[in-house]
Amino acid sequence: MNSPLHADIASLQQNGITRIAAKRMDDPKVIPLWFGEGDIATDERIRNAAKRALDDGDTFYDYPQGRRDLCLAIKGYLDRLYGIDIDPVRIVVPGSTMLGITIAARMGAGHGDHALIVSPNWPNIENSYRATGAAIDFVRQRHGRDGWFLSMNDLRAALRPNTRSIFVNTPCNPTGWVMPAEQQAELLEICRERNILLIADEVYHRNIFDDSDAAPSFLRLTRADDPVVVVSGFSKAWAMTGWRIGWAVGPAHFAKAWAVLCECYNTGATVFVQQAAISALEEQDVVARLRAQYTRGREITEEVLGSCRRLEFTPPQGAFYAFPRLPGLRSSFALAEGILDEEDVGIAPGYTFGPGNEECFRICFAMSHDRLRNGLERVVRYIERHADSLTGGSI
Ligand SMILES: Cc1ncc(COP(=O)(O)O)c(C=O)c1O
Repeated sequence: MNSPLHADIASLQQNGITRIAAKRMDDPKVIPLWFGEGDIATDERIRNAAKRALDDGDTFYDYPQGRRDLCLAIKGYLDRLYGIDIDPVRIVVPGSTMLGITIAARMGAGHGDHALIVSPNWPNIENSYRATGAAIDFVRQRHGRDGWFLSMNDLRAALRPNTRSIFVNTPCNPTGWVMPAEQQAELLEICRERNILLIADEVYHRNIFDDSDAAPSFLRLTRADDPVVVVSGFSKAWAMTGWRIGWAVGPAHFAKAWAVLCECYNTGATVFVQQAAISALEEQDVVARLRAQYTRGREITEEVLGSCRRLEFTPPQGAFYAFPRLPGLRSSFALAEGILDEEDVGIAPGYTFGPGNEECFRICFAMSHDRLRNGLERVVRYIERHADSLTGGSI
């Protein structure tokens, strides 16, 4: 058919998580381990801050790149967390972390350019870059005895003369890999030398399973005009997925471009949600409580998935996902469909997280613990019942 839909957009593939979830997203019988969220509502104090803002009539336009008081609150939060002093002109508040990524991708890449995505990666990242018209390659983390790691040699080998942007998500959805500070410094140096825009997605910066307050951040390393945008948000650390608000810290000289694009995309995040975000930054005990919940969720996941001999699984260092591999699995989508149909559990198929992941699947362990255990036990039961036919009996 002759269509006015631009080829860049017509060729985009539906995210495989939404594709499976669309089948029964509203069905209360399903235990949803497919999305990146738990089942406990945002803390009451944060919800009350939004209610107060509405009661005060906070319903008007504000600065498209974010309310001044919120930008300053984000500055205060990041300065304290990382021991830095960010120029607030570098901070913007898009109406979701995802929107921040979409804007930043467009800032760095377009037709004729090449972009490199560290994978396995969340599928929306790939689509954001594809929508820019740039050519894309993936540099895949490797899986060793101690879990996932990135080879900087692989990354260097994937660079092209026209590479204009590199995307890295740390802690990583779906693998839970956390990029060490030394590697961050090395990657930053590459980007400085070649004038490549690095987009660092740090939305899981507080979802980490060691003693530190936060995962290593590029913000600790960057100068005001480095070619780096660090994107983050409230969804994961404060359980605020439905609020649609994030933040980004970019080079100081990007400020005008951000302001222009923020106007185009949504003319600023929802204004009373921004008030709730200010209150969230003050509620650090919420972050600590959720972190304890995810830590226990990780233990339960390790216990249940570890009991299944068919699966290869290394507990993640960060984020809140397990990304196990069923060696020989022929179709990760068929696996997700089978588990949904027979066990009423929603999981995400591996194929959607970039090339090379057809034998994998992702489950989110942010869920309340009884439901999580129940869901995981059903997943294992299904795999043990069907492993031979799923893998062609190859194992
Ligand atoms: C790696 C990654 N980046 C960004 C996002 C988007 O976050 P938000 O819901 O705040 O837009 C997600 C959500 O799952 C994610 O996993």
